Amino acid sequence: MCGIVGAVAQRNIVPVLVEGLRRLEYRGYDSCGVAVLSNGEPRRARSVARVADLDEQVVRETQLSGMTGIAHTRWATHGAPVTHNAHPIFSRDTVALVHNGIIENYEALREMLRGKGYEFVSQTDTEVIAHLIHSMYRGDLFQTVRDAVQQLHGAYAIAVIHKDQPHTVVGARQGSPLVVGVGEGENFLASDALALAGSTDRFAFLEEGDVVEITLEGVKIADRDGLPAQREVRVVSAYGGAVELGPYRHFMQKEIFEQPRAITDTIPQSDSFDADLFGEKAAGVFSEIDSILILACGTSYYSGLTAKYWLESIAKIPTQVEIASEYRYRESVPNPKSLVVTISQSGETADTIAALKHAQSLGHKHTLAICNVATSAMVRQTELAFLTHAGTEIGVASTKAFTTQLTALFVLAVTLAKMRGFVDAKREAAYLAQLRHLPAALNSVLALEPQIIAWSEEFARKENALFLGRGLHYPIALEGALKLKEISYIHAEAYPAGELKHGPLALVTEAMPVVTVAPNDALLDKLKSNMQEVRARGGELYVFADADTRIVSEDGIQVIRMPEHYGALSPILHVVPLQMLAYHTACARGTDVDKPRNLAKSVTVE
Ligand code: F6R
Repeated sequence: MCGIVGAVAQRNIVPVLVEGLRRLEYRGYDSCGVAVLSNGEPRRARSVARVADLDEQVVRETQLSGMTGIAHTRWATHGAPVTHNAHPIFSRDTVALVHNGIIENYEALREMLRGKGYEFVSQTDTEVIAHLIHSMYRGDLFQTVRDAVQQLHGAYAIAVIHKDQPHTVVGARQGSPLVVGVGEGENFLASDALALAGSTDRFAFLEEGDVVEITLEGVKIADRDGLPAQREVRVVSAYGGAVELGPYRHFMQKEIFEQPRAITDTIPQSDSFDADLFGEKAAGVFSEIDSILILACGTSYYSGLTAKYWLESIAKIPTQVEIASEYRYRESVPNPKSLVVTISQSGETADTIAALKHAQSLGHKHTLAICNVATSAMVRQTELAFLTHAGTEIGVASTKAFTTQLTALFVLAVTLAKMRGFVDAKREAAYLAQLRHLPAALNSVLALEPQIIAWSEEFARKENALFLGRGLHYPIALEGALKLKEISYIHAEAYPAGELKHGPLALVTEAMPVVTVAPNDALLDKLKSNMQEVRARGGELYVFADADTRIVSEDGIQVIRMPEHYGALSPILHVVPLQMLAYHTACARGTDVDKPRNLAKSVTVE
């Protein structure tokens, strides 16, 4: 999603701004730009290519330089990704503005501003904010922005400069993230602290409705009521390494291989599964609840679907899993004794945050975030939180965030099971031992990469694929299909294998590869029958089979052997070869793996 960087310094900040954009590239974008005050005038460069192209323009072609500036990566919502829609957007060569989010009342504002003589040169909703600020400016940019945002409906983070205030950047946030980076005699704004790695490690996280002014001397914040506000400045380090690729071809590949480490960091250190892993109040909350409602989107939703099996089979607690963007708009029956669990890598996904707020507005008082970003809006909005320690995930396709979410959700299931008397000390110790062995088991799955590369050459020539799984592994099949379609653009669908004969079997011909997740669990025999249904129609099976299943390669059935069955935690192992299959197929097709077309990381708009 769009990314913002802003800076005020006593040096040329164009390299800082462009480097910030480079660090935000992972969020996904289709154009980018930078504007600075140069000799008292706003000047800008914009590109519909990559940040590297913008860099080329500002260094070699325009030699743009200035000590106050803003920059942006844009993921188009209103208006095509063409240069005149790229940000920064200017108003009468006086105001320059960048924006992340959607302004819902932009049409009414545009008419009002046209009435005042403003001309619109872009198709963006953003242009109304630039003209609005220009029209309201009376010598104090901070005050003007505070007044102007009162007229905006929707979600936004903005950063704005004005030619008459040479050492000032003003920002505001409502529904989209914005952080302040605090430096020595220089200050910064960004959508994500990662953008400012190398410039500062001290950050203040703005609250909803905050307006901020950064100058050389300091930072001034007003809250949503216009009152002066202080936001704690925290040291956030260890961001630097995340943007380095090391020996890998893509961030997705790096992140797949980081999973043993990420899971090790997410497994609790303690020798028992205790409620306080989820926050001080968790013991009280967990003893009050009678059910769970999980809300999430995309890959995080699939981790919720997997968790439903654990929560119902291990902790015997009724669990409902809903797609956040559906739940937020549907009439549902709230149960105040239900624990609402939101799952999110970024903690900024607009639909999941809105669903959470919707649940709270319906009277759900117990909420838990499972999230990878400690400082995110979601973690601030929930009563309880469990942090996954995947580290920054750069690739748009989620990998290590998913397996660490599963790890966290398994810990939740066993913790609740223990409290509810379904897990005794012996079983608890066995679960813990299995969890701790998981990173080693994952390493043996990662060693399958060469065999998966061989399959990917065949997949790269296909246009469709089916994924089958059963029970706990059905959501893993869904995740495998999502990975393949989002990065290789091959149409892929997943079914619980028992559903084949109710419709999708009609698609099966020699041309249809059918990827099958085959753990040695209670449903194995049923799954084998489903595989025969495919073979009988000439379908080609590609099976990831546990070593102890006795499924062997034969005509029309290719098998990659996984380790022996890993019990309840098996989904965490089985998703990894599917991630690698998607990754290598995408590489073979030559797609932009880390930034697939039309997609963005951290979806901060509805
Ligand atoms: C797919 C993917 C997305 C995200 C979804 C939710 O690979 O990454 O489906 O899982 O956009 O994002 P978070 O987890 O940040 O809420």
